[in-house]
Order: sequence, then structure tokens, then C-alpha cells
Amino acid sequence: MGSYRQAYEQSISDPTAFWAQAAQAIDWRTPPRTVLDGTGAPFHRWFVGGELNTCENALDRHVAAGDGERLALVYDSPVTGTKRTYTYTQLLDETATFAGALAGLGVTKGDRVVIYLPMVPEAVVAMLACARLGAVHSVVFGGFAAHELAVRIDDAQPKVVVTASCGIEVTRVVEYKPLLDRALSLATHQPEHVVLLQRPQARAELSAPRDLDWQELVAGAEPAECVTVAATDPLYILYTSGTTAKPKGVVRDNGGHAVALRWSMENIYGIGPGDVWWTASDVGWVVGHSYIVYAPLLVGATTVLYEGKPVGTPDAGAFWRVIEEYAVQALFTAPTAIRAVKKEDPDGTLLAGRDLSTLRTLFLAGERLDPDTWQWATDRLGVAVVDHWWQTETGWPIAANLRGLEPMTIKAGSPTVAVPGWDVCVLDPGGEEVPAGTEGAICVRLPLPPGALLTLWNDDERFVASYLSAFDGYYLSGDGGYVDEDGYVFVMGRTDDVINVAGHRLSTGSMEAVVSGHPAVAECCVIGVHDELKGQVPRGFVVLKAGVDIDPDVLRAELVARMRDEIGAVASFKQVDVVAGLPKTRSGKILRRSMRAIADGRDEPVPSTIEDPEVLERLGPTLRDD
Ligand code: COA
Ligand code: AMP
Repeated sequence: MGSYRQAYEQSISDPTAFWAQAAQAIDWRTPPRTVLDGTGAPFHRWFVGGELNTCENALDRHVAAGDGERLALVYDSPVTGTKRTYTYTQLLDETATFAGALAGLGVTKGDRVVIYLPMVPEAVVAMLACARLGAVHSVVFGGFAAHELAVRIDDAQPKVVVTASCGIEVTRVVEYKPLLDRALSLATHQPEHVVLLQRPQARAELSAPRDLDWQELVAGAEPAECVTVAATDPLYILYTSGTTAKPKGVVRDNGGHAVALRWSMENIYGIGPGDVWWTASDVGWVVGHSYIVYAPLLVGATTVLYEGKPVGTPDAGAFWRVIEEYAVQALFTAPTAIRAVKKEDPDGTLLAGRDLSTLRTLFLAGERLDPDTWQWATDRLGVAVVDHWWQTETGWPIAANLRGLEPMTIKAGSPTVAVPGWDVCVLDPGGEEVPAGTEGAICVRLPLPPGALLTLWNDDERFVASYLSAFDGYYLSGDGGYVDEDGYVFVMGRTDDVINVAGHRLSTGSMEAVVSGHPAVAECCVIGVHDELKGQVPRGFVVLKAGVDIDPDVLRAELVARMRDEIGAVASFKQVDVVAGLPKTRSGKILRRSMRAIADGRDEPVPSTIEDPEVLERLGPTLRDD
């Protein structure tokens, strides 16, 4: 582990030197004065005094360097039968024009813009246009329904919401405008404007003067220049599920984000200028923010934007078709997507006749990669299948096999080693580091590296309570696991009530809020139970109010409908049991781990810390973080 070990040790012992070096890959309008400022600890700031523009680094600099004709983005949409390519020059033109359109609506530095779009190139354009103006985007995943959108609008308080007439789920047209209108009727905050992209699959009704048509708006817009922002100014807010019904607004800055993502693209993923890179995820998730949009463009690679599914659009060979068609060098997706392909085409017959010779690596993250899926992909594809571990909060990987820096031996079940910048420790409930091989809470010693969350939007207190208060001087990841004798990290699962459904991070707390809202329900609990395809799915247990007489099937149907309506179909909430009571600790906390084990009837590893009553008391604020 020569280069890795050296880089890792320097990043921990001398983070200033390490990140000052990495920062040279970014174009600064004013170079940073201080690389790491710990004066406001535990709130650390990177590249203080530095000024830049993230969009300039992602687009303008490549055009200025003479690479304007290189492909920046390839859009492949089997659900609409559309394919489109954008060179760096074209993507820059579209972005500058849309930025001009937003500026014409009064959007300036620091204003928030909510982006609620499907996987269309305009989503990338809208994000980069905000970055160009120094406005703060907050992308909301298109699979979230009105209530979730409303909560995010109220928290971010956007001046403008950018949306489309619809998304397409295989063949089902999901109209976005009625969802947005409903969200706005639920929200207290009202944006000044809604900019809507009309798609041919559904036309949305626009109500003047608030609603504006994307095409008409850009037709009259002048391109906008990049606005200088401080390295420490926010680039975006991305809401993620905590353990309560209120999502957490993860805030990421401009400078640290650009430096870390660029470093990660080259050193972790081994991707550089001109390489073709494909992340099959969604721009609404952190994986999409970092590795569909920003990182590949920061290094000058070509990014593939795929509006489709691993199966059903049209079949389980879709991934192989895209890899061949665009000569993709590395694919990044969630294990669940590979499980879906494996289920439909266990023998990999759809690989036959495909030329996948360009593919070097398959990267998987977002949930635990089970060894069977790893083995299947390794055998079928004959390339390195690399598990890596990270979170919305961290923005880029905490543990990985650094293919660009020094490829390492793969151990199935482990995302390999701590990435430079991340001082990973496993702690026992008393805050002591545990020996190799012993399970505990996976934490990161502060300061977090550049690119990690700075705080939660408008809620420094919750940031400290959720992540920094369990163990002084450490960031609590919320995952349990261990590090083995060779320094390999093993992530066994969440120690809180966050669940991962088909790679989508969801809060059982939000689901409980929906279930409890039903008039027949006295008390409820939603847990994640094992699912062959999706990794986990939610299962609800409800205790009825005294005297209520309702057919369990009717109740189930009503609760499922509520969940789809309030959170979204993506919750995959289908299982509900009516029970006489819920098992609890003496202090009244529900024994979720025992319930999960009983519900699953399995011995899949789950972190042992969670149900220890002492730990439950200690981690109380983070298990239910407000
Ligand atoms: N907009 C609207 N609805 C959406 C949606 C979106 N963006 N994404 C999902 N949904 C809906 C689906 O249509 C489905 O609705 P249904 O219950 O009416 O059929 C429901 O939410 C569940 O969707 P999904 O989780 O996608 O399950 P699926 O059974 O349709 O497909 C997989 C299973 C494995 C193919 C799919 O989950 C998948 O591709 N997962 C990869 C996820 C991923 O990339 N995660 C990002 C982390 S890296
Ligand atoms: P998200 O914030 O949506 O990226 O989800 C982050 C959570 O997904 C983590 O806290 C983990 O629980 C889980 N996760 C992500 N990647 C992995 C991985 N490689 N192995 C195990 N769990 C993972």
C-alpha cells in the first residue's frame, strides 16, 4: 500500500499540506489564504479567503483550454426514445443562457432555487446555472410526493422552483405539476416563480404570472457570466432522511467541494479528461450531485445521463447496451440495480454479443454490497467490482478501493480502506476505540475533509446534536461496523432508524408520522426488513385505538395510499400488521432490532450497539434527533 499509505498518512498528519496540493487542480479567482480554519471548531472551514466559481471550473475552463468540442454530456433516455449529446461548448452555452434567465427573475448570489426535475439534461443545466450565479440549489428527487416537496420548500425558502411537466417511470407518465401545485398549497413559503420544462409526454397548465415556460424564458435571455463566490459560500442544500419526519438540509460549500470531488475522481475512480463515465443513479441523490454532475465535469470527462431503469427499459441488458454504445470506462450504480439485472438474467445471456472492452471498473455504493451480488458481477463482467462507502453528508467516499491512486486487493463484503482525509475510528459506547475486528459505531475524527457537510441549513444546533454530540471530537456516521487487521472497513448497517430501500435513503420516522396520521391508529412503528431485491423494505406495525373496528385489509390499503401520496411510491411501503402492542425498553423506546430480527427470521449482521439499553439512552438524541 505504498502510494495509498503515504497519501493517507499525510492527509491525517498534515491535512493543510495535503489539501493545499489538491487545491492546485482548481482554478481560483483568489487563492485561499488559509487552507484549514479550525477557529470556529467544531465548525471547520476549508480554503478560507479563496474565491472561485464552481460552474467555471466545470465548464468554462475546459472551453478556455481548447477542449470545447469534447463531449461533456451524453443523454440516453430509453423511456422517451431520445439520445442527445452536448459538447462542453454546448453545455456551457445552455447553462449560461439559463443562468441569464434565472438572473432575469431576480435570482442572485445566496438565493435558493429548488430543482424538481426528472433525469433530463435540463437538470444538469439548472444546477450548473445556479452555481454560475452563486445561487444555492436544492434538488428534490422526483420520486418524492407533494408533502416531502413542501417540507423542503418551506425549509429552503426558494425564490424560484424549476420543474418539468412530467417524469416517466418505465411507461407510466408521472405528472409533476399537480404534485408541485399541491406542495405549494401545503407550504407556507411561496416562490416568486416556477419555471417549467414542457415535455411532449404531458403538457402542464401554467398559471401566469407565477409560472413560466422554460423555452420561452430562455428564448429572451442573455447569457450570464460566472459570479465570484467565496470558497466557503454554500453551493447547495441537499435534504436527506434523518430519523425524524423532518429531513436534514445538508449544506455543502463551493471550494472544499470542488477540491475534494476533483481529487476523488482521479484518485478513487481513476477517471480523467476525456474518459467516459456513467453513474446510473438520479440527480436527486448525492450520488447524482457528485458523480453525475460535478465531479466528471470538474475533471473534463464525459458524463452519461441515463433516464431509464436497469430492467424493463426495455430489458436487463440496458446497462450493457449503454456501456457498449458510449464506450463507457467505468459504471457507478447501486447494488440493488445489479440485483435487479441478476434476477431477470441470472446467466448474463444479455451480455452475449456486447462489446464491453472499454469497461474497467464497476463501482457500487448506496447500500451494503452482499457478497453474492459482488461475485455475480465479478464473474459476469470480468472487471474489478468495487464497493465503496459514503453518505449524503460526506459528499464523497469515506472508504474505497482507490483505483486511481493504488488499486488494492478486494475483500468481498468490505468497501476496502479509509480514503485519505477521513480519519475513520470505530468506537465503543464509552467513546473508546475498539481493537481490530470488534464492532462499534463508525466515526470520523474531526476535522472532516473538504467536501463534507458544513452544517444543516439554518440549523447549526441540529448539526451538532445529530452528528457531533455522541462522541466529543468525532463525527458519528450512523453506521455500525468494524475495521479488520488489514485496515479494511466493514459496514454492517445503520445504528439508527434510517433505512435503505433500493438504494434510496428513507426515514422510518417520516413513515411513522404518515401512519400515525390515520384516525384508527393509536401507536405505530415502521422498521426496515430484509428484501432480496431492494435490500430493505419498510414494514409497519400498528396498534389500533381502543374501540376501533376496521378490516386490516382496508386499513392496509388506506395506509399504503397515504404513504404514496405523502412520501412517494419510492417508499415501497406495502406491508402492515395490526398488533396488540409494541415491545419497548423500560424507558419506552421501541425495540426495533428485536422486531427486525423477528420479522426477518434471519441472522443477517446488524450492528450490535443499537439495542443495548444503555446505548439507546446514550445515543437517544441521534436515534431520534429532534
Ligand atoms: N419518480 C416517480 N416515481 C418513482 C421514481 C421517480 N423518480 N423513482 C421510483 N418511482 C416509483 C416507481 O415507479 C415505483 O412505483 P410503483 O410502486 O407504482 O411501481 C416505486 O417508486 C418504487 O420504485 P423503485 O424503487 O425504482 O422500484 P422498482 O421495483 O420500480 O425497481 C429497481 C427496482 C431495483 C430496478 C430500482 O429500484 C432501481 O433502479 N434502483 C437503483 C436505485 C438507485 O440508483 N439509487 C440511487 C443510489 S446510488
Ligand atoms: P445516502 O446518504 O443516501 O448516500 O445513504 C448513506 C447510507 O447508505 C450510509 O449511511 C449506509 O448506511 C449506506 N451505505 C452507503 N454505501 C454503503 C456501502 N458501500 N456499504 C454499506 N452501506 C452503505
